[in-house]
Amino acid sequence: MSVVALREALALAPENVPLRVLLARELLAVDRADAALIEARAAFAADPARRDTREVLGACGLSLGDDALVVEAWFAVRDQLAATSLRALAVSCARTGRLAESREVYALIAEQEPVVHDLALRRTVVGAAPAPAPERPPERRPTFADVGGLESLKERLRMDIVYPLQRPDLFRAYGKKLGGGVLLYGPPGCGKTHLAQAAAGESGARFVVVEIQAVLEMWLGESEKRLHEVFEEARAKSPSILFFDEVEAIGAARHQLRHGPGRRLVNQLLAEMDGAGAKNDGLLVIGATNAPWDVDPALRRPGRFDRVVFVPPPDPGARETILQLALRDRPTEKLDLRSLVGRTHRWSGADLNHLVDAASERALAEALRSGKLRPITQSDLVAAIDRVRPTTGEWLAAAKRYVSYANQAGLYDDVAAYLRED
Ligand SMILES: Nc1ncnc2c1ncn2[C@@H]1O[C@H](COP(=O)(O)OP(=O)(O)OP(=O)(O)O)[C@@H](O)[C@H]1O
Ligand SMILES: [Mg+2]
Repeated sequence: MSVVALREALALAPENVPLRVLLARELLAVDRADAALIEARAAFAADPARRDTREVLGACGLSLGDDALVVEAWFAVRDQLAATSLRALAVSCARTGRLAESREVYALIAEQEPVVHDLALRRTVVGAAPAPAPERPPERRPTFADVGGLESLKERLRMDIVYPLQRPDLFRAYGKKLGGGVLLYGPPGCGKTHLAQAAAGESGARFVVVEIQAVLEMWLGESEKRLHEVFEEARAKSPSILFFDEVEAIGAARHQLRHGPGRRLVNQLLAEMDGAGAKNDGLLVIGATNAPWDVDPALRRPGRFDRVVFVPPPDPGARETILQLALRDRPTEKLDLRSLVGRTHRWSGADLNHLVDAASERALAEALRSGKLRPITQSDLVAAIDRVRPTTGEWLAAAKRYVSYANQAGLYDDVAAYLRED
């Protein structure tokens, strides 16, 4: 029915809530969200218990970009929402600072879809906490033993992160500076985040993830304050490792938001990292990025992210270890992993995990058919190799261009060395 016809009908039966809901929907369909909202509000006021009045009210919120309205309309009926609406609700909760609610809604989505593929959503919602994430759950924390290869990098992180946190007295005795930051960069999926977590596990420090993008989006105008609080809490509960993922976002934000919040946030971060002397003892900062060329150069000055470290794709030995680690808790026949190593040149750790998942799925599908558990076999893995595509190529191609044309100060020398040997 058209808007006009619906309005005429409503004039005759103003108490008819379903009719008003229909009108609101029709108005939304013709892009008249403001008018729709008036009808939806009226319908909701008349009968808040009906599901459809809430539904249409939330839909108006979505159309108008009004997160608070989406939450108001939908949170109470979250159990009855379809997955797409739940997703929108989770994001609206996160954007209005309702992190506990956001996580709760996310848990409902995960129930409906046991494997949540939407990583961006997971990041907005679960990683949304610009405030420190809750204390680590009691489950076993990864250590360097869970990281395949990268031996010289681990040694470096022991010197830069683990030992300073464990024996600040010795470092001070030898006049070695504490604090400062390490910036990890490299292609996606090669273990930057994993390595940072392992460094925290190795040193027994608290590990706090700070997502710049979330700090910027969720705390508009209050970003600096939030950032300061994050640092203060980390200082109070040291030893702590603050992990800034996607740290280039803070530089990018500077260009996007010309009016200053990005700039102010950079300055705040610099001030916190410079940390007025001893205040930052027991506090280490690790940054990670896929795009070191976008990282604000001010962040790389001494005392800040002064150690810039390339995390390369795993070498053959590391690939074998990563496969072993990925397979360690699954039933397998005797496998010849070494023979797979030659066929996974340039694969990332994430790609290799993906390979093991695909092989496991093949064994599982057969077990479901036969009703009997059977181990993962060599041929499951070989079959999976053809189905998984390695993901580092694009990054390495981009890096090659930067190495050739923008390698000032030898910043990317270790990438250059990797590319030469590759
Ligand atoms: N060297 C490694 N040893 C063991 N596991 C690894 C290694 N590298 C990557 N992985 C596994 O691959 C997955 C992706 O790694 P991680 O998240 O650390 O990559 P990343 O470099 O942070 O990627 P992104 O740039 O996309 O954030 C993780 O599950 C991790 O366990
Ligand atoms: Mg990462």
